[in-house]
Amino acid sequence: MRLFIDTANVEEIRKAHELGVISGITTNPSLIAKEGRDFFEVVKEIISIVGDLPISAEVVSLEAKEMVEQGKKLSKLGSSVVIKLPMTAEGLKATSEFKKLGIPTNVTLIFSAPQALLAARAGATYVSPFIGRLDDINQVGINLIKEIRQIFVAGNIDSQIISASVRHTTHVIEAASAGADIATIPYKLIESMIHHPLTDAGIERFLKDWEGAKQATF
Ligand code: E4P
Repeated sequence: MRLFIDTANVEEIRKAHELGVISGITTNPSLIAKEGRDFFEVVKEIISIVGDLPISAEVVSLEAKEMVEQGKKLSKLGSSVVIKLPMTAEGLKATSEFKKLGIPTNVTLIFSAPQALLAARAGATYVSPFIGRLDDINQVGINLIKEIRQIFVAGNIDSQIISASVRHTTHVIEAASAGADIATIPYKLIESMIHHPLTDAGIERFLKDWEGAKQATF
């Protein structure tokens, strides 16, 4: 399973990219709004940092025709831009239009397997089931990833599953076992995946022993 970073903060993207662990970026209108910057400028800066890694940028219309217009403008920023569309009838129409144009898409706000199947059949490159928001309403979000993987295998569907709305490290590992192609995760989650108290204690011990033995310096 690959990892995408779920943020519009360029500093977080820069730091995650330097670690060499991310294979793409997802943003959404809330994340963009949080930055208080021009949307197009943010996407351009992200491209300058990550090169050709896929960057999901979301349209903000409820109407297919307008979604396609907005998506085409975003797509002009670079071939790595993936147009993110809501899981609605209009979003599906726009998805199939982008499929014809050869522009990659990410259908977002997926909360059921039938929605994922429709998005895939409309030609979505990626489908984004939101597991954390399902947990929030007392459903088991990770079960949706398992179900979508099953129907994609059975139907020989090649849309990629992005496990989204990922809240903690257990979600990441469960998403990988459930068959997600990708988990998109906030920067703070990457940080918490790095750290383990026994790693910190181990480093301290190794360095203390090294000092004590008065080894030659490098
Ligand atoms: C994914 O593409 C979304 O941006 C994201 O994962 C939403 O997560 P949230 O439920 O934490 O807002």
